[in-house]
Amino acid sequence: MKKYKVLFVCLGNICRSPSAEAVFKALIEKKGEEPDFEIDSAGTSDYHEGEPADQRMQKHAEKRGYNLTSNSRPLKTEDFDKFDLIVAMDDNNYYDLKEKARSLEDEKKIVKMTDFSRKFEYDHVPDPYFGGSEGFEIVLDLLEDAGEGLYHHMKSTKN
Ligand code: 4NP
Repeated sequence: MKKYKVLFVCLGNICRSPSAEAVFKALIEKKGEEPDFEIDSAGTSDYHEGEPADQRMQKHAEKRGYNLTSNSRPLKTEDFDKFDLIVAMDDNNYYDLKEKARSLEDEKKIVKMTDFSRKFEYDHVPDPYFGGSEGFEIVLDLLEDAGEGLYHHMKSTKN
């Protein structure tokens, strides 16, 4: 069977998208479907290339049982070929991705994480980098909620 391939994208790939990757991987593992999915994350910038996830983000994620293991990498053009869905955390990420898209086919793969929210009414996953600990908790709340919605979207639309 062909895998479902999803790439989570934020600005630095050290806070939100590595968390989205870990939260979504945990959700898929819980459902016993990890062989059917390929899950990765990237940044629209290369500001933190090669760095592990932000220490504060790691600490908050660990409290909920998520291990952030990825190292920051910038988005590559080939990501548009490889992935079925490219999931932006906020509008800046979304429009940066749209600018990098080479075709309508690429553009169609770009969505926003909060499009799949079920409980929360946020229209983006807020950047926690310059704020306090509450911001990191909100990121995780939003990702857990939208992750479920994204899973159901992928299952219902994949042919
Ligand atoms: P992220 O958070 O996009 O969720 O990884 C940020 C990381 C770094 C910066 C901004 C946001 N920065 O300005 O360096």
